[in-house]
Amino acid sequence: MTATTTGAETATTTGTETATSPVTTAAIPTVTGAVGTAHTRVEGRDKVTGAARYAGEIPFADLAHGWLVLSTVARGRIGSVETAPVLAMPGVLTVLHHKNAPRLHLDYIGLLGVRPDPTAAVFQNDRVAHAGWPVALVVAETSEQAREAAEALVVTYEQEPHDIDFRGDRPDAFTLDGHMPAVTEKGDLDAELAASAHVVDVEYTTPEEHHAMMEPHAATARWDDGRLDVVDSNQGTTWVADELSRMFSLDASAVRVRSEHVGGGFGSKGVRAHQVSAVMAATALRRPVRVVLNRRQMFSLTGYRSPTAQRIRLGADADGRLRALEHRSLSQTSTVWDFVEPSAGVARVMYDAPAHRTAIEAVRLDVPSPTWMRAPGEAPGAFALEAALDELAERCGVDPIELRLRNEPERGPVSGMPFSGHNLAACFREGARRFGWAGRDPRPGLRREGNLLIGTGTAAASFPAGAGPSTAAVTAEADGTFTVRIAAADIGTGARTALTLVAADALRVAPARIRMRIGDSDFGPAMIAGGSTGTRSWAWAITVAADELRERLAGEAGIPAEGVTVRSDTTAALGALAQKERHSFGAQFAEVAVDVTTGEVRVRRMLGVFAAGRIVNPLTARGQLVGGMVWGISMALHEEGIRDRASGGHYGGDLAGYHIATNADVPVVEADWVDDPDPDDPVGIKGIGEVGIVGAAAAIANAVWHATGVRHRSLPIRPDRILTAGGPHV
Ligand code: MOS
Repeated sequence: MTATTTGAETATTTGTETATSPVTTAAIPTVTGAVGTAHTRVEGRDKVTGAARYAGEIPFADLAHGWLVLSTVARGRIGSVETAPVLAMPGVLTVLHHKNAPRLHLDYIGLLGVRPDPTAAVFQNDRVAHAGWPVALVVAETSEQAREAAEALVVTYEQEPHDIDFRGDRPDAFTLDGHMPAVTEKGDLDAELAASAHVVDVEYTTPEEHHAMMEPHAATARWDDGRLDVVDSNQGTTWVADELSRMFSLDASAVRVRSEHVGGGFGSKGVRAHQVSAVMAATALRRPVRVVLNRRQMFSLTGYRSPTAQRIRLGADADGRLRALEHRSLSQTSTVWDFVEPSAGVARVMYDAPAHRTAIEAVRLDVPSPTWMRAPGEAPGAFALEAALDELAERCGVDPIELRLRNEPERGPVSGMPFSGHNLAACFREGARRFGWAGRDPRPGLRREGNLLIGTGTAAASFPAGAGPSTAAVTAEADGTFTVRIAAADIGTGARTALTLVAADALRVAPARIRMRIGDSDFGPAMIAGGSTGTRSWAWAITVAADELRERLAGEAGIPAEGVTVRSDTTAALGALAQKERHSFGAQFAEVAVDVTTGEVRVRRMLGVFAAGRIVNPLTARGQLVGGMVWGISMALHEEGIRDRASGGHYGGDLAGYHIATNADVPVVEADWVDDPDPDDPVGIKGIGEVGIVGAAAAIANAVWHATGVRHRSLPIRPDRILTAGGPHV
């Protein structure tokens, strides 16, 4: 994401201090209104009764169905696409591939500040850059006919040797700027390490991880009276409409993208091969075309979290005060489009030291480009950093919470900027009290219940609190209701409901009088559901429009039949925000039981206490935070995308082979928060989408050490790793 779209990322770059922010704490309404009270989802009944339609099931007259054909080789060139036999199959309408597909315009930088990903911009040349590369789209009258023909399509390749070998010691690793600079450094690392009473120098690894949201990617494209109309499942209709208009050289006003209900996104639902190929086919056939991905295709077409290898070096005085901190992270990217998982970025926020170095590195392999995935950077980064802090606490003989409090930075360790709020200590205090941390024996491997070893662990969390420019329209209707239109996305978060509460308070009316319409690019530009910025960005725009509408209505006798509409645009207000370190924080706690005979680790209970701005809807907020923590359990113990060296593709690239924490893996997980309104936001919001996963895996790994006395530095902590790691208990 670009510096212009989120305050969070600009806070990590050096910028000039601008005017003070236009909003102060005094402006935050303290009256108990709708915001802050639990509210069930406004679309909940529609979802549980099936009345809510998802992109892949909305009916269209004369609909044709496309099925993507993916490469079976990991590197090479397409020799031939033998379309003739397939075109003779029942129902088949066309086969699109690199020889007959329209040329796309790809020389642009999109709204998120990056060039288009060639894996999404399909069929532009004969190069195959990874296993599962899209090579053709077969379109037929029914989905079954399209799939059968796609599976029958013969494509020949000139195969080349591929390299998918991700390792921490790759000699071809290089520093790579993503949405933040690759390297920051100050002080003399070696000198401070040499002068330290305690040193930790360790490597951590995390595997390839996949978004695995419930609803697969699906899009229907059609031409409607000269306009391209795309019904999709995405995290931002503004974003997808912008990319499609640029790729197909269409006027922005000629493209409409809708995405009303979304069954999860987690960073993966941007512009992908399914929308682009659907538009190509709808244009060629002059009828609506739907392309739905299946679960296996999603493993290669929709992004993932890169594996990481992270080296952490910490040096501290006898009392645990840091003298040196180095965090180096390596991730992989493809040969065609760079994405870097900025795992070392979290160290730029969390801890300061006289010598401080962070480096974000990448290696280019014959794999798909990774992408944003829930807490990109922070999730794997905090696993490594917060586990290393635990190792340092052990060396120093200092309680892990006390060690963190002793190392709280006064200002941004790298930026030098003040924090807009830094309520980590409050999270640890409240969390320690509720979890029962006091009196914990720090020695590992002592608590035994039969075959089980019991341990507890903790870790800190942080995630940037940003906002992006958005527009909104609020209409006072003649019947006394209000309609809000904003191109927001509710990807399962509860954003639609949160925004209803925000609008109700801003208009001083009951939530039942608000009609919230989202997910339509025709509503004007708005921030995506990404970077935990969605609800804050949209709430800001709605609040501005609603405030002005309320003032305007105060002088009106009645509402005309067409209603009264006020539009807002937060671009200028966001641009005037002072440069600060803006983050949510949290304290994660976990208790685990490790079975020394089977190697199984089970989380017994988890608690997360967060300082994440004003909480708009406690019901859905708790769901977001608990969901993040459950993902942390999954990351710590289960998830691992494994590539086959020979084919370059996945073993078990489906939900049978790719293990995710399910109900039986999830014990009592509690999430709560401390009072932490953002002083520079009209509603006091910071954003809660991602902070819940951060630190969760570290808390579990630290608890596994406390249980067993063995440090597990590679995720997931599988039974075989427990059984083969040795340690005092075997
Ligand atoms: Mo999120 S990974 O910014 O959808």
